[in-house]
Amino acid sequence: TLFSNAVQASLYTAKQIAELILEKQKQGLPAVLGLATGNTPKKVYKELIRLHQYEGLSFHNVVSFNLDEYYPIGSENDQSYTYFMNQNLFSYIDIQPKNIHVPHTDSSPDQITQYCLDYESKIAGFGGIDLQLLGIGRNGHIGFNEPGSSFDSTTRLVNLDSITREDAITDFGTLNKVPHQAISIGIHTIIQAKKILLLALGERKSEIINEAINGEISIQVPASILQTMPQVEYVLDNEAARLI
Ligand code: GLP
Repeated sequence: TLFSNAVQASLYTAKQIAELILEKQKQGLPAVLGLATGNTPKKVYKELIRLHQYEGLSFHNVVSFNLDEYYPIGSENDQSYTYFMNQNLFSYIDIQPKNIHVPHTDSSPDQITQYCLDYESKIAGFGGIDLQLLGIGRNGHIGFNEPGSSFDSTTRLVNLDSITREDAITDFGTLNKVPHQAISIGIHTIIQAKKILLLALGERKSEIINEAINGEISIQVPASILQTMPQVEYVLDNEAARLI
């Protein structure tokens, strides 16, 4: 779905999320959301906060699973995704703290494998993700599933690609402060979501969006697998869609 600007695309995305939450509330069921970080979803979260504060939208039945987190990083670090989610969404809505899941990367290396398996089981325990919000990296990554990630991958520790680390300099200040690893839910985990909204905004994303949508399906462009998935909707502004 194409929008003339980032605000329109973000409002539309927030509306889809709000509608799912309300529908699940009517059914007395939890709404299981897969959430993303980065600049792209910020306006979506702003609109969700507005809907909560001014339109009475409750997040009481929302269960959230974030896609990824740097490794290692303390949750108090202002570059951690735990911090990001609190700052950009969770602190302003009535989601129950017990329903929030962001991968914690304080596990020691020998506990990580078990931690990742547990994260997967928790998602499965809620019947999988109802709606997954996704951004896209300039190298085609979704979550932190970097080029080369298997389409069968599940939650695991990953090595970050050099383009990803370079793009993170704006957040961390210098390259040597950018972590080399992250925990990310897998591509398999993502594509099992019942509905996927891939949001891409701005000229910076136009090349990779064209490749992901029109290019060949390859693990070198992780988002390309989404071409085969009927539950995927690309939500783009004009700039991101310029080359497709
Ligand atoms: C990070 C996140 C991704 C996100 C990507 C794009 O690498 N792990 O989930 O999609 O950045 O970020 P931005 O939206 O800031 O362009």
